[in-house]
Amino acid sequence: MKPVHDTPTKPDGTSPLLRVRNLVRRYSSGANEVVALSELTVDLERGHSLALVGRSGSGKSTLLNLLAGLDRPSSGSIEVNGRDLASLNRKELAAYRASEVGIIFQAFQLIPHRTALQNVELGLAFIGNGRSERTARAQAVLEQVGLGDRVQHKPDALSGGEKQRVAIARALVKNPTLLLADEPTGNLDRESTADIARLLAATRDSGISLILVTHDLDLAESLCETILELEYGRVVQRREAVR
Ligand SMILES: Nc1ncnc2c1ncn2[C@@H]1O[C@H](COP(=O)(O)OP(=O)(O)OP(=O)(O)O)[C@@H](O)[C@H]1O
Ligand SMILES: [Mg+2]
Repeated sequence: MKPVHDTPTKPDGTSPLLRVRNLVRRYSSGANEVVALSELTVDLERGHSLALVGRSGSGKSTLLNLLAGLDRPSSGSIEVNGRDLASLNRKELAAYRASEVGIIFQAFQLIPHRTALQNVELGLAFIGNGRSERTARAQAVLEQVGLGDRVQHKPDALSGGEKQRVAIARALVKNPTLLLADEPTGNLDRESTADIARLLAATRDSGISLILVTHDLDLAESLCETILELEYGRVVQRREAVR
């Protein structure tokens, strides 16, 4: 299949932040095989933002998990910053997850018995900062997302929008080059959605590349330069957002 969007390495040798080529992820459960991603090819330039839209089951979360190094492809390649993720051993892949890529999940995935501050500190746990530096950085990022007065709250004592802001703080505290957000507003009311949209816009404006999975086309248009629509694990439409 012809790639939908294929940017060759530029003459000056600088490659895009992300180069995904012919990515395939098959799941087999018993006799059945599900092809969640099928020969998917896409690039993302540094500092750019990309929205992934498409029906439930079209492969969006599968793609994010692969980009995050949480899963391995059946075939095809993912290059981030010029390095093929497949060539990284477990330790290198863990370092990639710990320092280069931030992930925001739809269901927040906060640790319930830890405070907001401790949850955000966990975003730095594998980078090797000292304890006091971790705490200071976590505190600063929580203030940045507007939760300076909620740092000692546990997730149960936070609203949905506040939980999502903690999750964003946990992803941002490591200062990633790539931020992956899987339906970050999927569980939120309209007002909290607007808060999160502002926060993601500020993140994007600070130069962090963003890949946003969403069912909210207005959010996709307002945050992202490019919108890709997936169907059965393939890109069926690619368009530039009108901003
Ligand atoms: N661990 C798994 N084992 C088997 N099949 C899976 C697994 N994970 C995902 N799939 C299948 O892969 C396909 C893509 O799933 P994926 O979660 O990527 O969809 P999605 O686009 O994120 O959907 P949604 O919008 O509902 O979140 C689906 O058909 C799903 O059933
Ligand atoms: Mg999903």
